[in-house]
Amino acid sequence: MNFDLQKIVRENVKNLMPYSSARKEYSGTAQIFLDANENSFGSPLAQNYNRYPDPSQTEIKKKVAQLHNLKPCEIFVGNGSDEAIDLLFRIFCRPEIDNVLICPPTYGMYEVSAEINDAKVKRASLTNDFELDFDAIQNEFDEKTKLLFICSPNNPTGNSFDREEILRIVEIFGGIVIIDEAYIHFSCEQSFVSEINNFPNLVILQTFSKAWGLAGLRVGLALANEEIIALFNKVKPPYNVSEIAQQAILQAFENKSQAEKSITEIISERERLIEKLENFSCVKKVYPSDANFVLVKTTDAEKIYKFLLAEKIVVRNRNNVELCTGCLRITVGTYEENENLLEAISKLT
Ligand SMILES: Cc1ncc(COP(=O)(O)O)c(C=O)c1O
Repeated sequence: MNFDLQKIVRENVKNLMPYSSARKEYSGTAQIFLDANENSFGSPLAQNYNRYPDPSQTEIKKKVAQLHNLKPCEIFVGNGSDEAIDLLFRIFCRPEIDNVLICPPTYGMYEVSAEINDAKVKRASLTNDFELDFDAIQNEFDEKTKLLFICSPNNPTGNSFDREEILRIVEIFGGIVIIDEAYIHFSCEQSFVSEINNFPNLVILQTFSKAWGLAGLRVGLALANEEIIALFNKVKPPYNVSEIAQQAILQAFENKSQAEKSITEIISERERLIEKLENFSCVKKVYPSDANFVLVKTTDAEKIYKFLLAEKIVVRNRNNVELCTGCLRITVGTYEENENLLEAISKLT
């Protein structure tokens, strides 16, 4: 493989003198902090949040490192994995010059982030059975293709891609391959985290928003080799993860078994939902899912979407998305939520 990290990083990022936050410069046992223009009088709350949070999220990284058998320097903690996606553009893509490759239908933020950062978007659409199209990917990328996004399990199709196929792509691609594992905890497939030191161009995204049930905190991860993570740390805003979020994530690690239990329940509800949905005459097909949602091909997505809205149930209308005509994406809810959904759909058929 022809990959040289230094060759693909933007010059301005290479030359950047990163912002040095007050808290980062200090190390020692001081007791009076008059360095960061905080309010020493405290917060109008039961708990004080008057101090800036740890810019390095040291404690969270220790926990994540243990979980994935990584070093803290191989972990970036972001304000959602959406922040990691945006930073990838800022690190690697020269506006108006570079491009990125996506495999639609897939998660919409790759394209939105590309547009915000003025990077061109190339597409290697999935095949009709939602598999990666290796030849199309190979044909699309050129020397200005800096990023290739592979979402597995994929949103909105719900399937995981073949592991060997993904590794074959990582192997030949001269830019950064991002494997977005937002839904990996709902899948029987193995994570690619263990591969980050086998491939110098591999970045894994994970999030606390799905299996961990912490979407409101906005915390996501990028996992990669030390050199790539150093670039994330160089360009990130200094205090990108709030104190409340950091504290809550650490508490969640103490209750990890609760999150694990919810994953088991979601998977079993997913299978029940698929079985029930398949019985409705307005449902043409329920695609197999490795995620916490199912993609459902219906006879009339617009009509069913509006009908469900009138029943006060919101699902995601994917009718206008490539390869998803007639499709609704439905998140797996609790037993009661799913029962309400099924009852509503039964009124239609
Ligand atoms: C594939 C995928 N990646 C990333 C995200 C964003 O995750 P976060 O909440 O960590 O920003 C989502 C959210 O739906 C997603 O579907």
